[in-house]
Amino acid sequence: MTQIVEMKKEMRAVTSVWRRAGRRIGLVPTMGALHEGHLSLIRAAVAECDVTAVSVFVNPTQFAPGEDFERYPKTFEADLGTCRELGVDTVFAPTADEMYGPGAETYVMQERLTSVLEGASRPAHFHGVMTVVLKLFHIVGPDAAYFGRKDYQQTVVLRRMVADLDVPVEMRVCPTVREPDGLAMSSRNQYLTANERSQARSLYEALTRCRELFDAGDRRAEGLREAMRERIAREPDAQIDYVEVARPDDLNPAQSAEPGDVALVAVRIGDTRLIDNIVLGDDDT
Ligand code: PAJ
Repeated sequence: MTQIVEMKKEMRAVTSVWRRAGRRIGLVPTMGALHEGHLSLIRAAVAECDVTAVSVFVNPTQFAPGEDFERYPKTFEADLGTCRELGVDTVFAPTADEMYGPGAETYVMQERLTSVLEGASRPAHFHGVMTVVLKLFHIVGPDAAYFGRKDYQQTVVLRRMVADLDVPVEMRVCPTVREPDGLAMSSRNQYLTANERSQARSLYEALTRCRELFDAGDRRAEGLREAMRERIAREPDAQIDYVEVARPDDLNPAQSAEPGDVALVAVRIGDTRLIDNIVLGDDDT
């Protein structure tokens, strides 16, 4: 039976019973509109933990004015059905008022990592992400939390937060799940028109081109970036936000690429902003 919990206090009561029984608790934070990418995290949590909680919360503090908070897809009934099928124990779905009490004004800040790449385009984004994820960690108290490599910088920022603030949680990062043509699954893909959808293939094709060049021995990071830019620029409605080859832990730009470095792209196709990445020297993404 999958239980739905809307109140923080009730969620804490549920997990404290689990904890006293010595059960390993898994948490999968999501904003709902679940697709195969989310499902892979849920499956991993259910397989590796005794009990699993999935949070479904479209977090207002990680959206800037003018972003897609209001139109973010909401499919709660279907999400619940999916969680039931996968054997999730509890779905935590608070309202924004329940999550952020009146007068809330405390946020998690991080210095450099949150100001580059995604952070350069979306300055307050990671502060909202870190704050809500830390709150979820406090409310649920998971032994392990599951995140997707699709949002690579998010995993780096959250790992840093967990280390810096001594949060006792194991961070598990799962590979990116893709459509048959390589497009990374995302709740935002449904905003694309058919024509934009076919242009969206360029993100993964650019990353794959980067990987091919790297595998063939090309280590000049600027050359790799240029090859990615060229591929994306072939699409009439694609506007590059950034293209980067960066070090995995600090996201500093690479001069000479090494195995383990990450190639990242953010591209606006029409009105929809898409991100993707692959790790070089690793076929699992
Ligand atoms: P959301 O975009 O719903 O994603 C929830 C989790 O699913 C994230 O860890 C994300 O990286 C992962 N995910 C999304 N698409 C994926 C794919 N194609 N393959 C593998 N994993 C994928 O990320 C967020 O929500 C929010 O920022 C959140 C962490 C919930 C905080 O509000």
